[in-house]
Amino acid sequence: MTTAVASSLGTALVTGASSGIGATYARKLAARGYDLVLVARDATRLTALAGELGSAFGISADVLPADLTLAADVRKVEDRIRADQAITLLANNAGIGPNGTLLGGDIDYLDRMIAINVTAANRLAVAAAQAFKARGRGAIINIASVVALAPEIFNGTYGASKAFVLALTQALAHELADSGVKVQAVLPGLTRTEIFDRVGSSFDHIDPERVMDVDDMVSAALAGFDQGELVTIPSLQDADLLSSFNTARGALGPHLSRRLPAARYLSAA
Ligand SMILES: NC(=O)c1ccc[n+]([C@@H]2O[C@H](COP(=O)([O-])OP(=O)(O)OC[C@H]3O[C@@H](n4cnc5c(N)ncnc54)[C@H](OP(=O)(O)O)[C@@H]3O)[C@@H](O)[C@H]2O)c1
Repeated sequence: MTTAVASSLGTALVTGASSGIGATYARKLAARGYDLVLVARDATRLTALAGELGSAFGISADVLPADLTLAADVRKVEDRIRADQAITLLANNAGIGPNGTLLGGDIDYLDRMIAINVTAANRLAVAAAQAFKARGRGAIINIASVVALAPEIFNGTYGASKAFVLALTQALAHELADSGVKVQAVLPGLTRTEIFDRVGSSFDHIDPERVMDVDDMVSAALAGFDQGELVTIPSLQDADLLSSFNTARGALGPHLSRRLPAARYLSAA
């Protein structure tokens, strides 16, 4: 029996690692030499992936089965992030996708979406930020979506959940400046995974020119990570468009909180 030597890069904890984007991150981070902690509900798939990546790359890979709609399971993952000093990277990826429109939708499904995409993502990101800051190093990769910038596309709760992840990442980056901890929000467009299969749909009716291969998406996101980007949009050819958007947002800043209402609102009694 061989025992893997602990990685000098440390351990990456990847949520939603049983399929799609999370499994692809696990594979690429293992190839870089990270040890892994793989989180999702499906322990069988996680164990198979851990075994495969451990053998292929000589890394150590643990599985931590958890249902992130359950507070106790989120705590279990949070405890691992806080207690395991080897953890240097959180890929905060687990999430569920849009299932129809808001007006035609299942409101209980939307509650589960908020539990995973918002409540669990927030708890794990904040726990990692606190732990990594104390350790003086680490990185948090939060998987948002382009719908964070375009909530009219798809389901509004889904878009809002991803806007939450983007705003959380921007705020964490601000608080973690000069801490040695890196933060990145990844905003994928349509990416070929199991996300739509899980809600009884598919990518079949979508123009293939608009759907990225998951391997290409994660490779691009990791290139953005290596370049130190705070926000990475793998599909965006013209990076100046994002810079202009950020410049316009920054220009609003000094005008957002004042003692008096704006002149155009002063006419009503
Ligand atoms: N695919 C896209 O077009 C796209 C675009 C933008 C953003 N995203 C985001 O990318 C992330 C990953 O999605 P994906 O596209 O890779 O979809 P996916 O293939 O369906 O993977 C989703 C992952 O989340 C896990 N998960 C689902 N419910 C969970 C729960 N209750 N507790 C713990 N883990 C749970 C799943 O594992 P188990 O079933 O084993 O629990 C699976 O590993 C999501 O946050 C999604 O919103 C996807």
